[in-house]
Amino acid sequence: SLPVENVQTLASKNLKNIPSRYIRPEFESDVVSAEESLQIPVIDMSKLDHDDEQTKLHFACKDWGFFQLINHGIPDELIEQMKADAREFFHLPSEERMACAQIPGHIEGYGHNRVPLIAKNLGMDPETLLSLFENEMQAIKMNHYPPCAEASKVLGASPHSDSSALTILLHANEVEGLQIKRNQKWVPVKPIPGAFTVNIGDVIEIMSNGEYKSVLHRAVVNGDKERLSIAAFHNQKLGTQVGPLQDLVKTNKPLYKTIPVEEFRRWKMTSKQDGKFMIRKMEL
Ligand code: SIN
Ligand code: FE2
Repeated sequence: SLPVENVQTLASKNLKNIPSRYIRPEFESDVVSAEESLQIPVIDMSKLDHDDEQTKLHFACKDWGFFQLINHGIPDELIEQMKADAREFFHLPSEERMACAQIPGHIEGYGHNRVPLIAKNLGMDPETLLSLFENEMQAIKMNHYPPCAEASKVLGASPHSDSSALTILLHANEVEGLQIKRNQKWVPVKPIPGAFTVNIGDVIEIMSNGEYKSVLHRAVVNGDKERLSIAAFHNQKLGTQVGPLQDLVKTNKPLYKTIPVEEFRRWKMTSKQDGKFMIRKMEL
């Protein structure tokens, strides 16, 4: 098949006719207004040893599948450097960018305590959960959405749920664009400066036997400003099984089957990214 032109190249041509793969279906345009716009929960990581903050986290994972994480302890300078690097990268000459884009990025050092925190709320042993994630693969994805004159018609990222266990997103410039599906409507996320947007991925939804939600989300583009975001995907390590945690299905019926991580990934990659809750299709 012919190589698909990347969006940066397309955007630089100021095309009148946008390729159909970037056009967003009309029925997806139901966005909540600014007034009715609820905000996703805010979790203060420095307070997570208090029960009320734990309760808030539990609710956020159950009811929203998304939260903004503040006081996470990651130094501002490091975050600013990351943003600057992303900006720099996307403004490199096309050949240089293409050469680098082939290599999937890996990063270490964000710490491991976010998953066990969640473990406590699910009523399971943090060590057991940790063992599924130790030395796991972390993938980093930098997104660049060039400005688009036809912004209301195009999609930045089409509706999907993440196949990761947990995704940590950095809004890398001041432009908004992430929207999450809630009660049949798209809710725009208003990023708090310095906060990370965290969302539950399919793996934790499955592990929690459906108690925590991997929520559909998408990214829209802006008419006159570019947008940058950086996502860190935290995955379960290879050689383990994806399925509802034993501790959780002692009394409840398992809602998902248990399969090897490798099979789960293959299965997810070959499913159509059509904006449905794909994990629901994982029949028993
Ligand atoms: C994505 O979820 O794929 C993109 C998120 C974003 O750019 O905000
Ligand atoms: Fe995503």
